[in-house]
Amino acid sequence: MLSGFTVVVGVTGGIAAYKTLEVVSRLRKLGAEVRVIMTESATRLVAPITFQTISNNPVVVHMFEEPKRWNVEHVALAEAADLFLVCPATANVIGKIYNGIADDFLTTSIMACTASKLICPAMNHNMYHNPVVQRNLEGLRQLGYHILEPESGRLASGATGKGRLPDPESIVREVVSILVPERDLEGLKILITAGPTREWIDPVRYISNPSTGKMGYALAAAAARRGATVYLVSGPVALEAPAGVILRKVETTQQMLDACLEFYTESDVVIGAAAPGDFHPERISGQKIKKSGAGIQLTFRETPDILKTLGQDKANKILVGFAAETENIVENAVQKAKQKNLDFVCANQVGLSDRGFGSDSNVISIVMPDGSHREIGPAPKYEIAMAILDKVKSIIG
Ligand code: C5P
Repeated sequence: MLSGFTVVVGVTGGIAAYKTLEVVSRLRKLGAEVRVIMTESATRLVAPITFQTISNNPVVVHMFEEPKRWNVEHVALAEAADLFLVCPATANVIGKIYNGIADDFLTTSIMACTASKLICPAMNHNMYHNPVVQRNLEGLRQLGYHILEPESGRLASGATGKGRLPDPESIVREVVSILVPERDLEGLKILITAGPTREWIDPVRYISNPSTGKMGYALAAAAARRGATVYLVSGPVALEAPAGVILRKVETTQQMLDACLEFYTESDVVIGAAAPGDFHPERISGQKIKKSGAGIQLTFRETPDILKTLGQDKANKILVGFAAETENIVENAVQKAKQKNLDFVCANQVGLSDRGFGSDSNVISIVMPDGSHREIGPAPKYEIAMAILDKVKSIIG
């Protein structure tokens, strides 16, 4: 069930650390690759060699350890993660993560990690109810971290209260539900556009935009994992096609439209996550344009609007657009939905460094044509994709 997934498990110095051995063991039995990072205090409770044996991978504790079997740079582990689990999470590590402190391998890795994160707090009940801890947990929740609430019961100190780490089975169930959604979109055919386009000026030059395709590819991956048939029409990007999608690579906006038209009749849903160029040079020079000292002037024509074209023959398909805006997000999105005959628009604000073009996380508003809207994120683009698909599903009913 988890084969192909890498779970990075951060173990901190809570007395429940021994239960994480069982979590690691179960994750491995489900096929996950597990890489364990421990804090110094966790190593006082459970020996790293035990986690090393159970995870079948070296355990990292210190920032400057000599690499053994793989690149122990914090960034490499952070990038390998499909999910970063902190289990148990002490009040200390929760405070550090929320406040941006990265003073050991675990906290540095999680800061460099853009994948989903699951925090399992476990501590004395007075510590857990401390408003400082609650504020930090709420802050993390708002930043898109998953928090698995501790259970009530008898704590290690002998006291009774809320703060006990849930049993390994519940923790693993939570990991699975984040990584492996139900195949609830089986039977649905979804056409997704992604990435920028290139409009050529001459054989060596083009105009384009900074879209990386990450949002469209995250949508394609999420829809495929949920069982949909996915047609991904992509401009030039540096991403690998997600497993199981039917990929068509194109360069220009006209080619993107042509490819979409091929798949359109049989598609139930279209999501336009691409940033197709709106203008193309009136003529493409057959030869490289030479410098003459006088500069050049180019005349541009408008390219076809893909979603608008498809929206004219909508029937009972669901059409979803994106809108990158610098101001009046909702008003502009409503207008776009009406002009292009869309069911809803995912609007985001561009010009902020932590979202939009190129970034791994995003904040979007799902804007309906009647102006009602709901904000999603900040969250990894994969989770934003899941929420967009949930909205599509709710419209289909
Ligand atoms: O009108 P604007 O370009 O802001 O609209 C953005 C939305 O329209 C996106 O969903 C984008 O994929 C789509 N679009 C399109 N064809 C174009 C330009 C944008 O389908 N030529």
